[in-house]
Amino acid sequence: TTVEWEAESYDMGGHDTYMHKEISEQPDAVDRVLRGRIDDRFSTVHLGGLNLDAREARTIRRIKILGCGTSYHAGLIGAGLIEELARIPADAEPASEFRYRNPVVDPDTLYIAVSQSGETYDVLAAVQELKRKGARVLGVVNVVGSAIARETDGGVYVHAGPEVCVVSTKCFTNTVTAFALLALHLGRIRDLSVADGKRIIEGLRRLPGQIQEILKQEDEIKKLAKRYADAKSMMFIGRVRGYPVALEASLKLKEISYIHAEAYPASELKHGPLALIEPSLPTVAIIPDDDLLEKNRAALEEIKARSGQILAVAHQEQEKADHTIVVPKNETELDSILMGIPLQIFAYHTALALGRDIDKPRNLAKSVTVE
Ligand code: G6P
Repeated sequence: TTVEWEAESYDMGGHDTYMHKEISEQPDAVDRVLRGRIDDRFSTVHLGGLNLDAREARTIRRIKILGCGTSYHAGLIGAGLIEELARIPADAEPASEFRYRNPVVDPDTLYIAVSQSGETYDVLAAVQELKRKGARVLGVVNVVGSAIARETDGGVYVHAGPEVCVVSTKCFTNTVTAFALLALHLGRIRDLSVADGKRIIEGLRRLPGQIQEILKQEDEIKKLAKRYADAKSMMFIGRVRGYPVALEASLKLKEISYIHAEAYPASELKHGPLALIEPSLPTVAIIPDDDLLEKNRAALEEIKARSGQILAVAHQEQEKADHTIVVPKNETELDSILMGIPLQIFAYHTALALGRDIDKPRNLAKSVTVE
């Protein structure tokens, strides 16, 4: 059976669209994914449904994350968090690509299926194929009791609550936060120190308040969205922690505004896309205050040298950028959770300025249950 929320029964609570409502719900949603899971005594988290004991967790040699669309992007950030906090090699791949290439299924690899709905066919088919080959598969899923939740060996519910808008916002943020919990849990079973565990827990606790700070900037972000709404195309760039944020922000913009957008690792600009840079192609640059800050600033200079307009999302004003959205700083590992949120608001107001049907963009479905 398919578990579905009845969209019509959900009140918009004074918002004009579900997307706006769901963006605004993020402080509470993140609070929910954390609730009851933090263990201050051991500076770790408890994930009741994981079904993976510490001894088993220590034998994992690799983690492979599978998902589609926004969930795939959440998986990319998740893989980065797992590598940083648990030092387990991890990567993410679109579930459809994985299942069509006759993948090598390795007994020491932990597979993680990511899905808001828990019903996406390509993800479900990948899970079934993995199970058939004897792999251990966990789920990071929003809808309780959905097909993927049932077919996996265990997992983490992301507790974002019902998401009605076709494009995912609060569920993305909660999924990434759930991955931070999983990474912290695996890290503390392995080599992450008590001090670092404590530091990450304190960072997690700051997230809801910091998201609230970002939401307060809606009016300024709306002005920026109007400024850029006539662009035919936009480039999104980021490096390491910033790159999956750029991918997701570019997907969000194209899904609801129908503006062509693409995302590139900042370092790849010089290998091709720099040829496109001119005043009519604005670039959105994700620039966290981390050890790559200077390298990112150099990329901005390359764009400015070609008269490209730049909108930066950063922890401090960027001199080379035409505009900067300043995001509150958290622990470096957790920064990517926050940096996508102003760009959800940016995509929203761009689509609104263009008069798009935001909750039901053309040609797209909330959940794709066919091949
Ligand atoms: C569809 C939706 C996307 C979503 C993707 C995966 O394409 O339009 O917004 O990210 O499916 O959905 P899932 O429910 O598996 O996260």
